[in-house]
Amino acid sequence: MDHFLYRDGVLHAEDVAIPAIAAEVGTPFYVYSTATLTRHYKLFEEALEGVPHCICFAMKSLANQAVLTLLGKLGAGMDVVSGGEYARAIAAGIPGERIVFSGVGKTRAEMAMALESGIRQFNIESEPEMEALSEVACAMGTEAPVTLRVNPDVDARTHEKISTGKKGDKFGIPISRAKEVYAHAARLPGLRVVGIDVHIGSQLTDLAPFETAFLKVVELTHALRAEGHRIERLDLGGGLGIPYERSNSAPPLPIEYGAMIKRVTEGLDVEVEIEPGRLISGNAGLLVSSVIYEKDGDGTDFLILDAAMNDLLRPAMYGAHHDIVPVIEAEPGAEQRTYDIVGPVCESGDTFARKRTMPPVKPDELVGFRSAGAYGAVMSSEYNSRPLIPEVLVSGDNFAVIRERPTFDEMIARDKVPSWVQAMTA
Ligand code: LLP
Repeated sequence: MDHFLYRDGVLHAEDVAIPAIAAEVGTPFYVYSTATLTRHYKLFEEALEGVPHCICFAMKSLANQAVLTLLGKLGAGMDVVSGGEYARAIAAGIPGERIVFSGVGKTRAEMAMALESGIRQFNIESEPEMEALSEVACAMGTEAPVTLRVNPDVDARTHEKISTGKKGDKFGIPISRAKEVYAHAARLPGLRVVGIDVHIGSQLTDLAPFETAFLKVVELTHALRAEGHRIERLDLGGGLGIPYERSNSAPPLPIEYGAMIKRVTEGLDVEVEIEPGRLISGNAGLLVSSVIYEKDGDGTDFLILDAAMNDLLRPAMYGAHHDIVPVIEAEPGAEQRTYDIVGPVCESGDTFARKRTMPPVKPDELVGFRSAGAYGAVMSSEYNSRPLIPEVLVSGDNFAVIRERPTFDEMIARDKVPSWVQAMTA
């Protein structure tokens, strides 16, 4: 469920008409709903009610400071994967004890930064990383809380580029080697083992692969405890999918996901951590764009928008589907048109949808890409020297620009031309 609905034939973000935002900030832009973000965060809180837990928002999905601050005020922790994300979480007021640090390539500098300002745990992905962290912690005279991320060799049945828990994926330690690697961790100074971590992939639309992986983690918990390790926490990762196509059957709800987690971990006496990203942010965001031209191709009608693959990469990168809707609602029973919907970037991959049937839209009219809150703005670039697009946050009938569109001058001023290039003559 989201808060982007038509009212009197005009698409709104909560109580704000989309054209009113477009008039103020220009297109394209991202707009997020405070009510949807709040609701989705609370769904996980409700789903895990009754068990000790920590919900760490996977901020890689949507990392604007306003959104992080909002979620932090609701009580969220953060799952971070870089020094930059860690710095954003701290700047948003998230206490270190609610931040988990994931990722296969944490540098020593990133480790030191997190140990300095506080960290709930590092989710360690390899033995070399474990040794590096041990050295950094010892040099700082401190102890690093760690879980080891295990790779349970479970097929998440999602897009291959976002599946992370199969043998051969770069993530985690093969679960078959877990005992030996935990023993190694226990021998290293400066590390304190606190639990186990697993994350098998993203946009999962079925609970079965989660359950298979979690059951393996529960079994490992018993085995590791029998060897004297203190397993107090299970970080079960993120990955619960969202309905991108309204016509498709809906993925499991957070309450069902939570019930499964409770069932699987019952009696284990652990704190449960989860790292949802997309389910909290995905349907909380809309990408709004204007039609520039309608072009007759050879047998194809192209709708050329002012948004492009640099603004929303998912269709080009994963062949992902986003519903694209006119901001002014079509009359009931109005004719439908079939378009290839593309951006202005100079490559054919800059295609949002092929043979998409929708009500006709004309140049200068607005369209909205639904479910664009997760992995939208964060994956954008300035390819083709198209400045990063603004982000707007709505609450009720209020809206605020939470990231401004840089001017061309600001974009250009980030580059520096060295004196010897300036001095060159033809
Ligand atoms: N935890 C870890 C360790 C992760 O690697 C991820 C996502 C998450 C949590 C959050 O997963 P979520 O709940 O959002 O599914 N750019 C891709 C998605 C990449 C996901 C990467 N890891 C996309 O646009 O579909």
